[in-house]
This record gives sequence, C-alpha cells and structure tokens, in this order.
Amino acid sequence: IALGVLVSGSGSNLQAIIDRVGDGSLDADIRIVIANKPDAQGLERARKAGIATACVRHDEFPERESFDRELVRLLREAEARFVALAGFMRILTPVFLTPFAGRVINIHPALLPACPGLRAQEQQAGHGVRLAGCTVHFVDEEMDHGPIIIQAAVPAYADDDEATLGARILEMEHRIYPQALQWIAQDRVQVVGRQVVVRGASR
Ligand code: GRF
Repeated sequence: IALGVLVSGSGSNLQAIIDRVGDGSLDADIRIVIANKPDAQGLERARKAGIATACVRHDEFPERESFDRELVRLLREAEARFVALAGFMRILTPVFLTPFAGRVINIHPALLPACPGLRAQEQQAGHGVRLAGCTVHFVDEEMDHGPIIIQAAVPAYADDDEATLGARILEMEHRIYPQALQWIAQDRVQVVGRQVVVRGASR
C-alpha cells in the first residue's frame, strides 16, 4: 500500500512500520511522513530511512479545516492512498476524513472503548486495571471510535505507573500496528457496519 504517516512526537510506531517494511513483513511504500511540529523525532527517523518528509505547523493555520486541507494536498501530491496516524495529536475534520474515507488508521494505547482520549496509559494505571492494551482502528469523526482492526492486551500490575505500563503497551503497539497495516496491504480487511472482518485470520 502507498502509505502516508502522520506523527507528532517520538515516532516509535513509525519506526516499527519502517522496520517491518525493511524486513519484508509489511508490503508498504511509505510515500511521506508529515508532522505538525518541526521538532517531532518522527521526522528524523523518516529522513534516516530516506523517506520524504513535510512539516505542517498547526499553529500557523487559523482553523482545523485549513490545516487539514494542507495535509490532504501533501498526501495527494505524494500519492499516498492510506494514512496511518502514529502518535498524531490533532483531531481531523471531515475536510481530511472525507477524501480519505475508510483509509485512515490510528493506534490508541488502550483497549477501546475503554480509556479513549489523552493519557490513556495514565488512565489505565490510575484505574487499577488488570488488563491494559492497545487498539488499531479505522478513524471516523469521533475520537478513538472507528471500527477495530486488532487489539492486544498486556497485564497491568499494582506497582505499575504510567511509564512502566506505557512501555509495556508500546512494545505491543509496535507489533500490532504493522500487522494491521499488512492485513490492509493484503486486501484482507473488510468493514461491515462496526465490525472489521479480516479474511483468513484465525479466531
Ligand atoms: C503511542 O502510545 C500511540 O498509541 C499514541 O501515541 C503514542 C505515540 O508514540 N497514539 P510514538 O510517537 O509512536 O512513539
């Protein structure tokens, strides 16, 4: 798949995607990596891997729609067909989601629909959950809401804090995000209402 990746920060999920493309387990062509902050470490990771980058500073746009329009323009120019959000901390409007309907994927560090929104790792540690995890899902207009492609659980312990639990979740994120993208690349993913059916996946 021709993929665009949007990042805001460290980009470790981007790195996992780059690495799986590198070892041949993900059939993706990363056409462009776009950040909304110039200091996003994800941009540096992309450059190192020889991937085209762009920075679109959200604070230079008067409202979400014009920011989104610029993202769409760059993604189209780069001929990206699917878009993976990898720690991208901006809410996307229909200006973005309509042209890429059904082709935007996100990863969230919790077992949705539990703990949507910001600081999900802290929410889980603070709540004393026994099972934490992560979710890869299609993006719709509600935050952390669209059809779920894959989830993975990790144990949470009484002495976990945001950082220790977050690290355990992140390790799992790096496994399931490339997996979900590979299913899409293999054209095995179909959305039926809220359900995602993955052809050939075991139960
Ligand atoms: C991850 O926990 C992801 O689930 C969340 O933001 C974090 C991004 O980490 N949406 P990274 O930038 O991929 O290292």
